Amino acid sequence: MARKYLIEGGVRLHGEITIRGAKNAVTKEMVAAMLAPGVSTLRNVPDIGDVDITRRVLESIGCRAVHDAAAGTLTIDASNLNGPEVPAEYSGLNRIPILMAGALIHRFGKAVIPMMGGCDIGARPVDFHLQGFERLGATVEYRDGAYHFSADRLVGTRITLPFPSVGATENLMMAAVLARGTTEIRNAAVEPEIVDLALLLQSMGAIISQETDRTWIIQGVDALTPFDHRVLNDRIEAASFAAAAIATRGDVLIRGADQLHLLTFLNWLRRAGGEFAIQADGIRFRGKDSHLKSVAAETGVHPGLMTDWQQPLVILLTQASGMSVIHETVYENRFGYTEALGRMGANIQLFSECLGGSDCRFRHLGHKHSAVILGPTPLHGAEIEIPDLRAGFSYMVAAALAKGRTTLSGVRYIERGYDRIVEKFGALGLPIQVVEE
Ligand code: EPZ
Repeated sequence: MARKYLIEGGVRLHGEITIRGAKNAVTKEMVAAMLAPGVSTLRNVPDIGDVDITRRVLESIGCRAVHDAAAGTLTIDASNLNGPEVPAEYSGLNRIPILMAGALIHRFGKAVIPMMGGCDIGARPVDFHLQGFERLGATVEYRDGAYHFSADRLVGTRITLPFPSVGATENLMMAAVLARGTTEIRNAAVEPEIVDLALLLQSMGAIISQETDRTWIIQGVDALTPFDHRVLNDRIEAASFAAAAIATRGDVLIRGADQLHLLTFLNWLRRAGGEFAIQADGIRFRGKDSHLKSVAAETGVHPGLMTDWQQPLVILLTQASGMSVIHETVYENRFGYTEALGRMGANIQLFSECLGGSDCRFRHLGHKHSAVILGPTPLHGAEIEIPDLRAGFSYMVAAALAKGRTTLSGVRYIERGYDRIVEKFGALGLPIQVVEE
């Protein structure tokens, strides 16, 4: 049954919410449980669709997983895995199965992983993952819709990633912890979610260090033990609600918003005229006192402006005076969602040139990866089909800003990644009518 959200806009968000564990950490940490027989526990687990999908994938290969959504705990018993193959029915649901390759190789000497899914925001190949496994001594073949990996034991090596990919870094890190010898992953991703994964792996008995130049050094060990770990808070959820508070000229305290992990976002928010105050228990975002003005920014890997902060920022900039420019350098196709914002009254034009920053790897390839936003523009309600998770959230903010009713369909994308979204917007004074059709 398809769900829709009906939203009556023209609301200033007001009140407080609490951030939960990061979607882009928790699902990888669920996979890490497979590295040690026994029962591992995750805390601060968000109540989101991606946790549920990943739980089902883990259960399909023999783990027993129990999620107490109210308490935010998840236990995973990985004592008995039933084989090296992730069933084909889990292809296309999210990006997690490929991250199971290392653990399955360690336990069975092979892994069979179906094709990947996830949001449609670019080609999203997995070549860095596959090349990394080959460097670690695995044989990798693609046949019948699945990747087939095999190796008696992975062997430490030096890997230089062509781009600091989050998923490839996590995958190779989880493969290297039980490899024979030492692995260096150079030009690696260093996002806070990856550091959180490294901390979890260290608690299991891994030996991992981080150099200052995007290099992870992992000294393989023979065995790991289960963990009990609290997932770090979601900095995308925090920034998304922050942008919503400012754009609607509201006043919202975001408990659990972590200044350290929002450092770059907060700088851009301040440059755009957004007002906020750091408090002991979170950050208060004061849209009422904000005088929004245009900025020129580009997304990039950590510690740059996250690509997942781009969409909330764009919505906010539709309410800023002047011409803003955003250059997307992580994904080649991450502005598709702006077409619907145009139907709501936003003035956004896309360009294939690298605007507002340095040339990126998409230069001359014809992808519309720069956006020019002219503001401020009043928005009005519309009927919108959500194309991906982060776009979905920005449509919710646009709906809150808009005059009249907005109908959002395809809300499963939002529910995959945002904890109790209807409840949280409701607590901030934006009632959302959920319709099942
Ligand atoms: C993770 O995706 C996140 N997903 C994304 O969040 C996030 O936008 C992205 O990292 C960047 O921060 C999860 O954590 C589940 P990448 P991931 O590998 O790991 C290219 C969300 O909405 N690349 O860092 O898949 C790739 O095409 C999602 O929460 C290759 O070319 O991203 C992209 O252009 C969306 N070959 C760039 O690298 C590879 O083998 C970065 O991708 C791997 C990646």
